[in-house]
Amino acid sequence: MKILVINGPNLNMLGIREPGIYGTQTFADLLVLLKDWSEAYGVELEQYQSNHEGDLVDKIQSAYGIFDGIIINPAAYTHTSIAILDALKAVGIPAVEVHISDVDAREAFRKISYAGLACEKTIKGQGLDGYRQALLYLMEKYSK
Ligand code: DQA
Repeated sequence: MKILVINGPNLNMLGIREPGIYGTQTFADLLVLLKDWSEAYGVELEQYQSNHEGDLVDKIQSAYGIFDGIIINPAAYTHTSIAILDALKAVGIPAVEVHISDVDAREAFRKISYAGLACEKTIKGQGLDGYRQALLYLMEKYSK
């Protein structure tokens, strides 16, 4: 099983950006966790991060016919990007949306998720473990 993890803008600043909201674990820590989980669960996993909307769209399109599942944290583009929503719909790959923070407990504009409309599940407010939970969800679906 091949999983693509996509992280949007400013997630490369984890550990530095607003630690009261996103925690003190760094983006490098997240990459280590993703590698550990993929090895422990026997899943092939690729990670991609970009601060640019079009690059995220290109990466989603390139997953077509290659990946069995997508885990995506579109970060701020969650709340603005119809292009990312359309790309997820275009490839039709089972996708799970992850947010490190509890977006529903924050500003009103964070309650809107365009990308989430193309995702089977949303995991929010679980910190970095949300990515592991998303992986487990996609593995279970794939095994059926
Ligand atoms: C985020 C929540 C978004 O509202 C925010 O713009 C982010 C990160 C999260 O993981 O909690 O950059 O997606």
